[in-house]
Amino acid sequence: PAADSPYRPAVHFTPPANWMNDPNGLIYHDGRYHLFYQHNPKGKTWGHMSWGHATSTDLIRWEHHPVAIPERGPVMAFSGSCVFDRNNTSGLGTQEQPPLVAIYTGHDGSRGVQDQRLAYSLDEGQTWAEYDNNPVLDIGLADFRDPKVFWHQPTQRWVMLVAKAKQHIIQFYASDNLKSWTLMSEFGPIGNPDVNHWECPELLHAPIINRTGERAWILQFDLGSHGPAGGPGSAYIVGDFDGQRFTPCSETGLQWVDHGPDFFALQAFNDAPGDRPIWLAWMDSWIYAHDAPTHPWRGVMTLPRKVSLLDSQHGPRLIQSPLLGTTHSLFQQKGPRRLRPGVHPFREVPLPDAYALRCAWAAEGAERYGIRVHEAGDEATVIAYDVETSTWSLDRRNSGLTSFSPAFARLFRAPVRDGKPNPGEGQVWVVVDRGSVELFASDGEITITARVYPTAERRGLSFFAEGGKVSLNTLELHAFASPTD
Ligand code: FRU
Repeated sequence: PAADSPYRPAVHFTPPANWMNDPNGLIYHDGRYHLFYQHNPKGKTWGHMSWGHATSTDLIRWEHHPVAIPERGPVMAFSGSCVFDRNNTSGLGTQEQPPLVAIYTGHDGSRGVQDQRLAYSLDEGQTWAEYDNNPVLDIGLADFRDPKVFWHQPTQRWVMLVAKAKQHIIQFYASDNLKSWTLMSEFGPIGNPDVNHWECPELLHAPIINRTGERAWILQFDLGSHGPAGGPGSAYIVGDFDGQRFTPCSETGLQWVDHGPDFFALQAFNDAPGDRPIWLAWMDSWIYAHDAPTHPWRGVMTLPRKVSLLDSQHGPRLIQSPLLGTTHSLFQQKGPRRLRPGVHPFREVPLPDAYALRCAWAAEGAERYGIRVHEAGDEATVIAYDVETSTWSLDRRNSGLTSFSPAFARLFRAPVRDGKPNPGEGQVWVVVDRGSVELFASDGEITITARVYPTAERRGLSFFAEGGKVSLNTLELHAFASPTD
C-alpha cells in the first residue's frame, strides 16, 4: 500500500498497522501455524497491550485476524503461550470440542502486580473467551511474567516456565488442568547481576545432530540489558529437564542465541511437526524500537528458524537454520570463482526485494572477505569474515538511515568457536529483506540479525576480498514464493 514506508518487509511478518513486540502463543494446530503478538491496536507506540493474531500454512505468508485477547480495563495482556488441550483437562471445552488455551500475563496497572491468566477458544482460534476465575497464578509480585506452557509427555502434565524478572529467576510449575499450579523448582540467578531483568523463558527438547537419536534440553530466556550487542539479548543454556527441574550440563555457562542487536523474546511453536523445534523472535531492540522510521506499523518478526544442537569439545552448541518456505533458484554459480582484492559487483540477475544467499569461501591470501548487501555507492550493510581473528561481523554504520537513534549505527561481531576447522568454508546463509539482514554463519552456529533502513531505491549486491585473494566456491541466490503463489 502507498502509505507504507519502503521498509515493509516482503517475507517477514509485520502487523498491518500499529505497534508490535514479542511473538506470543505460537502453536501449530490443525494444519495452521498461529502467531499471536504483543500489539497496541490503537497506535504506533507501546501501550494497550493486547494479543494480535495471524495464521499461516508455510510460516512465510500470513493471514491477519482480529485482536484475539484485548486489554481489559486496567489489565493489559502481556506475553504468554498457547496450548491445545486435547483431552480437555481444563474443562474449558468438551471432549468433542477441546479448547485452545492461551496462558498470558495480566499486567494490572491499578494493583501494580503481574499474574497469569487464561483465555480459550472453541473455534480453532477465531474467537477467544476470558476464563472467569482469572488469575490462575498470582504471587503478588510486580515483575512476574511471560508464562511458557507445554505438555510434558513423560509425566503427563502441563509444565509452566515463568520469570521472576527482577530476581533473575525462572520458576517451573506443574498442573493437571491449567487452572491450578504447583511450584516445582527454580533456576537462577546466574550470569551478570547488573542485567536489568530476565524475560520470556522458553524450554525445548532439541536433537543433537552429531549424536544420532540423542536430544538435550535448551533453556532460553531474554536479558533486558548487557546483551551481545550492548542492549537487550537472548541467552541459552543446555542441560537436562526431568519434568521438575532443569539441570545445566557441566561447563556450559550462558551463551548468546544471536549476536546482533535485533533479536529478542523468541518463542518456539508448540506442537510443531518435524524433529527440530521452530522458533522466531521480535526483530527489534527496546533501545530504539520506538524510533523506527516505518509507517503505519512498527515491529517485525525474524524469519522462523529450525533449531538443533551440535556436540563439541566445549559442550553442546545451538545450531539455527532459516526456514525459507518454498523458494526458487535465481542463480547458481558454476564452479569456484577466484576474487582478487577489491569489490566485485554481482550483476548476473536482477535482485528481488527479498532473497536468500548461500555462499562458501576459501581464503587464498585474503585477510578479510565478505558480502555487501543493500548496496548503493558507499551505502551498504557489510558482512565480513576476518581470517586472522576468525570473526564474523555485520556492519550497519553506513547502511542508510541511522540517525534516528545514537545506538543504531554500529558494527556487531561474533567470533567463531575455538578449534573449528576452516570456519570460513562453512556454509553461510544470508537472508535479505527490504529492512533487514540475517546472517547464519559457521554452519548455523553463529547468527547476526539486524534491521536496516537503506535509502537508495536500487540496491545491489557485491562480494569483496581484502589483503589477498579469496575463492568463492559456492554462490546461490534464492527467491521466496510470492504472496500469490
Ligand atoms: C518483553 C516484554 C515482556 C512483556 C512484554 C510486554 O519484550 O517486556 O516481558 O510481557 O514485553 O509487552
